[in-house]
Amino acid sequence: MASPLSLGVLISGSGTNLQAIIDAIERGELNAVIRVVLSNRGDAYGLARARHHNLPTVVISHKDFSSREVAGFMRLLSPFFIRAFPQRIVNIHPALLPAFPGTHVQRRALEHGVRVSGVTVHFVDEEMDHGPIIAQAAVPVYADDSEESLSARIRTQEHRIYPQAIQLFAEGRLEVRGRLVIVHNEARAPTATLRSPEPL
Ligand code: GRF
Repeated sequence: MASPLSLGVLISGSGTNLQAIIDAIERGELNAVIRVVLSNRGDAYGLARARHHNLPTVVISHKDFSSREVAGFMRLLSPFFIRAFPQRIVNIHPALLPAFPGTHVQRRALEHGVRVSGVTVHFVDEEMDHGPIIAQAAVPVYADDSEESLSARIRTQEHRIYPQAIQLFAEGRLEVRGRLVIVHNEARAPTATLRSPEPL
């Protein structure tokens, strides 16, 4: 088996997706090692999840720094950060992009009366919730749904497809062609080890 993919997981809150990634690694379904869990909030519950699994944690509050470039990390990653890891940063968003980028996603989906919503895993580019799509899963939206009930239905799918998408990356099966991600049946190149970014 290829050497495990080195992961840094960036969180801000409950970290249920972090937990799904940890669980997938422990079940042997994701060939990866989490090298660091980085939070921009010291009170993020995901930090406790990380510590419970003896994972290194770092808190970098963007509020302590004069700019995003100095902080190095914020909720919307700076172009400086993204250019250091081209096509190596992945985000999960609780909607079927390009519908409903941004925040208050489920509320806006309900306000629009959509019948179907879902989750998108995508490479990060310099626009918010915009980069090439790796994987999506759809869920039904019911007339009596609340933000909470729809979020919970979507969250179940997040936890399923995020580790799967990362495993495809770990296997070197993802090729970005412009706006598109081609998923190859077999690994193309041994991308499973971390390449150092270009010097900053
Ligand atoms: C998820 O809804 C994800 O789609 C969005 O932020 C939320 C993170 O939740 N990007 P968690 O911290 O993984 O529980």
